[in-house]
Amino acid sequence: MGIPEVAAYLQGQFHEVQGWCIPHLWNLIQPLHEWQEANGIHGPVGEIGVFHGKFFIGLALTKKGQRPHLALDVFDMQQFNLDGAGKGNRAAFEANLAAAGFGPGEVEIRRADSMAITRAELDEIRALCGGFSMFSVDGCHMAEHTINDFRIAMDLTRPGGVIFVDDYLNMDWPGVQEGLARLYLTDCPRWVPFAYSSNKLLCAHISHAGAMLRHLRTAVAEMFPEATIRMVRRFGYDCLNLRPDMKGRRYTADA
Ligand SMILES: C[S@@+](CC[C@H](N)C(=O)[O-])C[C@H]1O[C@@H](n2cnc3c(N)ncnc32)[C@H](O)[C@@H]1O
Repeated sequence: MGIPEVAAYLQGQFHEVQGWCIPHLWNLIQPLHEWQEANGIHGPVGEIGVFHGKFFIGLALTKKGQRPHLALDVFDMQQFNLDGAGKGNRAAFEANLAAAGFGPGEVEIRRADSMAITRAELDEIRALCGGFSMFSVDGCHMAEHTINDFRIAMDLTRPGGVIFVDDYLNMDWPGVQEGLARLYLTDCPRWVPFAYSSNKLLCAHISHAGAMLRHLRTAVAEMFPEATIRMVRRFGYDCLNLRPDMKGRRYTADA
């Protein structure tokens, strides 16, 4: 269980790491992690678009002990960052990882354009990491990249896992919403939306989405009574909207 380490990170180093992430996200991640533990869903975490590691380190600490986690970014190949949303920096990322206590072999770092990843490379990642328990899509925000990166996430994340899509409702990055709309209105993906909070859409494998949502509704209400929950439908699927108490610093609940 990595939640004590996550709590320390969110109250401390998190605020020194550059990037874009709202720590109240753990109002959802903690109960989902507990559901995964109770249901035998293990595995490392992955992210496309790690930047300096703000969200990645929190996810990897949540799953501390699983290895290797996957960190993928174009880093210095910024010619492939077509919308210029944050310039990844490998040195800063590695320094932040080390400060968070990650050692050799715990994180597989790949310098790559997600649009150019081949089937063979994806198979290699799966053989190395196994299926991911949590995967974050936060690279380039164009519709094409969102669709491509979400498909990679669906491919590499194990059923019972969670896929996070950043900036889904951010008015400055409409490509993210457009990409997912194209995907859900023209296709019928196996991964479906089931929660939204703090700038991220959460998707689950359709076979597990109902159970995960039922757990979230009960667990979040018990663990974070200061948060507000509203149920909506997205693309025909039940989805929990969570508004955390942003004035407070209750990112995780005591175990
Ligand atoms: C908004 S930042 C990510 C923020 C980060 N997740 C955090 O927690 O702060 C976007 C990142 O995506 C990377 N990126 C952009 N285009 C990419 C691509 N085609 N393939 C892989 N990474 C890409 C950028 O270099 C940048 O580091």
